[in-house]
Amino acid sequence: MLILAIESSCDETACAVVEMSEGVRRILSNSVATQIATHALYGGVVPEIASRCHIEAITPVVREAVRDAGIELSQLDAIAVTYSPGLIGSLLVGVSFAKSLAYDLGLPLIPVDHIKAHTAAAYFADETLGAPFLSLVVSGGHTSIYNVTEPHIFHEIGSTRDDAAGEAFDKVGRVMGLTYPGGAAMDRLATEGFKLIEDGEAMIKFPSPAIPDDTLDYSFSGLKTACINYLHNYRQKAELGDKDPVPEDEKRLVAASFTYTVVNGICSKLETAFERTGCQTLVVAGGVAANSHLRRAIGEICDKNGVKLCIPPMYLCGDNGAMVGAQAYYEYKTGVVADCSLNAYASGEGAMAAAALSKFTK
Ligand code: KG4
Ligand code: ZN
Repeated sequence: MLILAIESSCDETACAVVEMSEGVRRILSNSVATQIATHALYGGVVPEIASRCHIEAITPVVREAVRDAGIELSQLDAIAVTYSPGLIGSLLVGVSFAKSLAYDLGLPLIPVDHIKAHTAAAYFADETLGAPFLSLVVSGGHTSIYNVTEPHIFHEIGSTRDDAAGEAFDKVGRVMGLTYPGGAAMDRLATEGFKLIEDGEAMIKFPSPAIPDDTLDYSFSGLKTACINYLHNYRQKAELGDKDPVPEDEKRLVAASFTYTVVNGICSKLETAFERTGCQTLVVAGGVAANSHLRRAIGEICDKNGVKLCIPPMYLCGDNGAMVGAQAYYEYKTGVVADCSLNAYASGEGAMAAAALSKFTK
């Protein structure tokens, strides 16, 4: 079936046309308009500005996706949209647009959870991927491990109790003077920092984000604060003025030490998850799955534990429409179809969001 899928949960307006059926997983187009440059001026996403940007971008982005796919709207079989979780004003733009389009074309409307969609990006990376599998979703807003028993059934078995990993990358990056979002720049700085450490520089010790108990939960706020405090203390000791930058080599060491701590923490809980569930396939998804050090370390623990690893290609790790279309297919197969009363929900865990979805499940 041909699905046009819309994503607008945060600061990317995205639309894709995908073809999904038994044995076919194909992206016909994948159009993304990012607002990063606008929000970079403020050092983070400004929700009100994000919704306005979505309103401006959504029509051109949907037009571009249809044109790139080389199809007529009349060929579509369904419209899919992210309805939760995310910034409420941003979600509402996508949901309203999708509702109008589905109504106008007389097509089924499929509501999709953003976290499930991130995981579904992996279906395009591996033609044979199928449940059951474990999914680690690491993004700017989430860090959770799910036991995916069927493509539409996600059991959360671990999650962060405060900040998400991506948020920690971005906040530490900001204090080091990196442009928002700092994740990708931190990745590059860390590579340079690891070289310094190989050459004899000392690693800086930061608290692990793996909570020292028998849960599979994380906490990134202590690590984030420790890292930021380290940078402030460094400035004081080095008697740097407000405008003086921290020396590049010190930034490299902080980025490497921070990344090492994040990666080790994530991997230690993942190994426990492998043991407890006996799952033999792991999907890693979300913006932070683009991190080269995390990808390498997870590859190593998967090899060691005989677990097959499936990570979406870089361009499908961040927010996009194709991942929404892929998940929509599996939701639709179980009877999930919304009508024009579909609403958007900021929190995916909220009873309202769950009730909304159950209402649309036959
Ligand atoms: O999944 P995503 O595009 O949006 C959310 O749903 O949050 O993830 C964005 C997050 C940002 O925090 C960004 O800094 C982070 O992914 N990110 C990275 C890298 N590339 C993007 N973090 C670490 N290393 C990277 N290479
Ligand atoms: Zn996302």
